[in-house]
Amino acid sequence: MTIQSVSDLAGLQRAGRLVARTLAEMRGAVRPGITTAALDDIAARFARAEGARSAPQLAYDFPGFTCISVNDEIVHGIPGPRVLRGGDVVKLDVTLELHGYIADAAVTVLVPPAERSARELQRCARQAFTSALRSARAGTTLADLGGAVEREVQRHGFTVVRELSGHGVGRRIHESPSVPNWRDPAARGVLTPGLVIALEPMITPRPTRVTESRDGWTLRTQNGAPAAHHEHTIVIGAGAPLVVTM
Ligand code: MF3
Ligand code: CO
Ligand code: CO
Repeated sequence: MTIQSVSDLAGLQRAGRLVARTLAEMRGAVRPGITTAALDDIAARFARAEGARSAPQLAYDFPGFTCISVNDEIVHGIPGPRVLRGGDVVKLDVTLELHGYIADAAVTVLVPPAERSARELQRCARQAFTSALRSARAGTTLADLGGAVEREVQRHGFTVVRELSGHGVGRRIHESPSVPNWRDPAARGVLTPGLVIALEPMITPRPTRVTESRDGWTLRTQNGAPAAHHEHTIVIGAGAPLVVTM
């Protein structure tokens, strides 16, 4: 969506703040021995008590309130009986609908004790996001924004998952434009004032294809390598973007 009014901005910010608080609740509960279903339950109780609904459930009948992806699972993992163990790389992805507005954010959390390589991957995803944020303003092309993500990921010696992108968001979960995490020459669009997008680098240590699991949802690395993900919903402006899910 493109923000058209003060109430649009207020509505999106309310949804965004709730996404941030929900992610904080979940991440505070991550420890060895907890199941991904228990984490999802924490999110569902917390967000529903505030009047929100799961956007993946609303839009796609996704079989969870949130998406939780572990290790080689990149995104769209289904919460379930899987028990988290020390060293796991856990991607928590929360997309909420609140009073008609939708915000989307994800973080990578490490189950202690974490390996150094996992910490580096987690840090790279965060820094690729932050670094691209600095070029996200009205007038920037989507190819340049993707290039900013890619440059930072390459600097760390890691790889962008090219098959997966960010997206417009705000009134529906996946709106146009598609927001690539690499300098995709096909991405000819330009960021415009008030545009709301989910900027979300997904990265792996080495290049790999993406495969869909038999559950029909989970996307994983074909080579079995772990993935990291960092996502926020942002509003484009003339200067620094507004991060509504922080
Ligand atoms: N939150 C995911 C994203 O960042 C979307 C999940 S929708 C699902 O785009 F149904 F695929 F899970
Ligand atoms: Co998301
Ligand atoms: Co998203």
